[in-house]
Amino acid sequence: MDSKFDEWNDLKKCIDKKEIKVNIKERYIYFLSVGHNVGTESFGKGEAFLRPVIVYKKLGSNYFLGIPLTSKVKDGSYYFTFNRKNGKKNTAMLNQMKTFDAKRVVSYGGKISKNVYANLQNKMEKFLDITLTKSEGVPTRAKSEEILSKNKDEVKRFFLSSPHMSGNELKYIEEVFKSNYIAPLGEYVDKFEQSVKNYTGAKNALAVVNATSALHLALRVLGVGEGDDVLASTFTFIGSINAILYQRANPVFIDSDEQSWNLSAKLLKEYLQTCLKKPKALIVTHLYGMSADIEKISQICKEYGVYLIEDSAESLGATYNNKHTGTFGDFGVYSFNGNKILTTSGGGMLVSHNKEWIEKALFYATQAKEPCIHYEHLEYGYNYRMSNVLSAIGVAQMEVVEQRVTKKREIFSWYKEFLDDVDEVSFMPELPNSRGNRWLSAVTFEKTLHVDVMQSLQKLHVESRPLWKPMHLQPLFKDSKKFVDGTSEKLYNKGLCLASSTTMNKEDVEMICKEIRKTLNV
Ligand SMILES: Cc1ncc(COP(=O)(O)O)c(C=O)c1O
Repeated sequence: MDSKFDEWNDLKKCIDKKEIKVNIKERYIYFLSVGHNVGTESFGKGEAFLRPVIVYKKLGSNYFLGIPLTSKVKDGSYYFTFNRKNGKKNTAMLNQMKTFDAKRVVSYGGKISKNVYANLQNKMEKFLDITLTKSEGVPTRAKSEEILSKNKDEVKRFFLSSPHMSGNELKYIEEVFKSNYIAPLGEYVDKFEQSVKNYTGAKNALAVVNATSALHLALRVLGVGEGDDVLASTFTFIGSINAILYQRANPVFIDSDEQSWNLSAKLLKEYLQTCLKKPKALIVTHLYGMSADIEKISQICKEYGVYLIEDSAESLGATYNNKHTGTFGDFGVYSFNGNKILTTSGGGMLVSHNKEWIEKALFYATQAKEPCIHYEHLEYGYNYRMSNVLSAIGVAQMEVVEQRVTKKREIFSWYKEFLDDVDEVSFMPELPNSRGNRWLSAVTFEKTLHVDVMQSLQKLHVESRPLWKPMHLQPLFKDSKKFVDGTSEKLYNKGLCLASSTTMNKEDVEMICKEIRKTLNV
């Protein structure tokens, strides 16, 4: 019979039949020792033996499927039978299956003879494609406990966007260590800046501790100060806004449009046409790695004499008309925070077409030291520069940036494939002529409560998160100016970011979509 069981109930049904076929490749098969202390009716008292134990592994939870009495491997499938006592259902076995999980069974490892172990080892390697390393030796309780502790980490989790190393990070870090330029600067800082410039086409770049500090430097260099108005996307993460507060300026929040979910060029223009106080700058976010209507926004800013800062923290690799987001404005910032498309564990990059501005930003980022041999200060600065060690990680990460963009886009295409026919699901749009990096695949649900979907995914160790709560709805900004039409609020009330780690594969996305469909009843 087929083993397409998805649920525990299906599993039980299968067990009632005599034979279950398991596709070895699809299942996790654990090799465990079972000592006589397992002692159910089906195993003779005092009998110590080893058998493969099939563990049906579903999204991180181990369901103990059973200890087969007989088994054979044929055509890449592993067949096994369960014992039946007098032709009746073996309740002891069933109970065992209900209450045991793989971890517990492992902990029951008993001592067995070397011969039995060798025999089993041979079988496992030959038939089940499982290698038992010699070092594991004969399973003992102590050994089992060791396996047990390893198993603890084995729960497969799916994160929104987990770090994904290229493989060269340690090599470059080692070079940094060998050179002893651990801190503060060194050649990898230059290399990292150069790689971002080469990739994005930005003329000048400055590596700093994070994107928040990069935004802060941009505002400071542009002379934004106390009492100034700074326009900003309301549909964003607070990291985009905090820098405005650092400068004691006032954020003014502009809503999104339906076409991009990003700042609406139309609302921006309307605001600038009608506002009584001219804002000094605009910080526009390219949300979830998708380009805003940046050419239009840039034109409007020029027309009204407003500096443009692109918060491209999430959008490294995204383009509009083949030009990289972050390079349209007066300044652009990229984040290399742990959850971004690339990471240096924490880091940021400030870019600009204006060399003098970047030099000024460097001056502020390194404690505003005047060019004297002693330490002379006319202005206050910050300690915002990125270290050589983290830059080494950045260089290695930049080597795979295009691969990561491709994979993120692929993950999005899988979500689309598996959910496209579901009427109530809508996907974050991509503007014509743009290429988003699809940092996070974002969707909205028309009828189902998005947090219900989130909760059902959570049970399967799949991370998801509501869309950013718009800034104008944050208690912190209850008194701030806003120019909104309800778009971002509506999206926020319905939307989720789905797990989009580049380490995920199509089967993972399919499984997540199955769970979503189950919650939506479709
Ligand atoms: C839109 C946006 N802006 C700014 C930031 C701040 O970046 P960082 O953590 O590098 O300071 C983030 C993310 O962290 C972000 O998502």
